[in-house]
Amino acid sequence: MTEPLIKVKQLAYVRVRAPDKAVAEKFLTEFGLAVAERTDEAVYFRGTNPEPTCYVLSQGNGDVSAIAFEADNAEDLEKIAALDGASAIEPLDGPCGGQVVRLKDPMGMQVEICHGRSSLEALEAAPAHAFNMNGKRERVGLLPAIDRGPSHIRRIGHLVLESAQPETVYHWYHEHFGLTISDAVRLPDGSPQMVFSRLDRGDEYVDHHVVGFQFALDEAIRVQHIAFEVGNLDDLMSGHEYLKRRKRKNVWGIGRHLLGGQIFDYWKSPFGVIHEHWTDTDLVNEQHQAQDCGLGDMNDYWGPGPSPAFLIAKWNFKVIKNIFRLMTPTSNLTFCVYLN
Ligand SMILES: [Fe+2]
Repeated sequence: MTEPLIKVKQLAYVRVRAPDKAVAEKFLTEFGLAVAERTDEAVYFRGTNPEPTCYVLSQGNGDVSAIAFEADNAEDLEKIAALDGASAIEPLDGPCGGQVVRLKDPMGMQVEICHGRSSLEALEAAPAHAFNMNGKRERVGLLPAIDRGPSHIRRIGHLVLESAQPETVYHWYHEHFGLTISDAVRLPDGSPQMVFSRLDRGDEYVDHHVVGFQFALDEAIRVQHIAFEVGNLDDLMSGHEYLKRRKRKNVWGIGRHLLGGQIFDYWKSPFGVIHEHWTDTDLVNEQHQAQDCGLGDMNDYWGPGPSPAFLIAKWNFKVIKNIFRLMTPTSNLTFCVYLN
C-alpha cells in the first residue's frame, strides 16, 4: 500500500446545513452540544473537552457539506495545499482561529485540513460515580451522581461516509491522510459493506474507528451519521430519556456494537442527518489485527437491530435493486441481519 502523504491527528469538525437554523440549534442543544459562538452565517458548537469547536451549523439543505481533520503541523498543511485541486492555505472561520486547506474527495465531498486552532476552556463534564458492580463495593454510602438532562458531549468521535464505492474512497483517505483499516465487513457477494478506519498514530491507542466507509443501498453520497462521545453510560441513558421526552426520533439503540465495542444510541435530527451518542469504545493501536467479516459475523453484543430509518435514507429504484441483488438464495439469512 502507498505511504500516505500525511497522517492526520484527529477528526476536527463537520459543517452541517439545515433549512431552519433555529430548529436545528434547538435539537443540537438538546442532544448535548454547547454553543461556543454565533454569527449571522453560522453557529459554532463544542463539547465539554477543551478541544476547539467540532460542529459548524449554517443555513441550507439538510446535509453535511464538509468534514475536517486536524493536521500535526504546518508542513503537513503545505503538503495538502500543493495537491492539484486544493485551495491555498487560508484563515479558518470560527472562534478558535487557525488555518485551513480545502479539497474534494473522489465523491465530491469537501474535506478540510486545519492546523493551529486554539483550545477552549473546558466545560463542566458529566458527573461520574463509582459502582457497586463486578463483586466490588465501591459506591458505599453515596448516591449515584447523575444529571437528569441532555447528555454531556465530550468531543466529536467519528462519522460514516456512504457511497457506492466505499473501498475506493477509503484508499483515497488512506493515501492522503493516513487513515488505516481497523476492520472490514463484506456483503454476501463479497463486495465491501463497511470499511472501518482509524487514525494511524503508531503505538498510541486511538478509537477503533474515526471514519466508516459504507456502501449506500441507494448508491448516494452522504455522511450517514456523525458520532459524539458522551460522559459515561448514565450520561448516555439520561440523554436518551431527555430526547425521548421531547419526542425526538430514535433510529437505533441503545446497544453495544461488536465492531468498535461502543455503547451506542442514534437519533435522527429534524434536518435528516443522524447523530450518535456513544461511550466506552474499543481503543486499538498498530498491534490491532484487522478482521474481514461477513455481515452475519457482525451481530452486536446486545441491543435491538437498526430501524429502516437508520438503514435507508431515501427509498428509490437503486435501493430495491440492491436489496434484490443481495437476497441471493444463499444470502437471505445474512441480508436479514443487515435489515434487522
Ligand atoms: Fe457510529
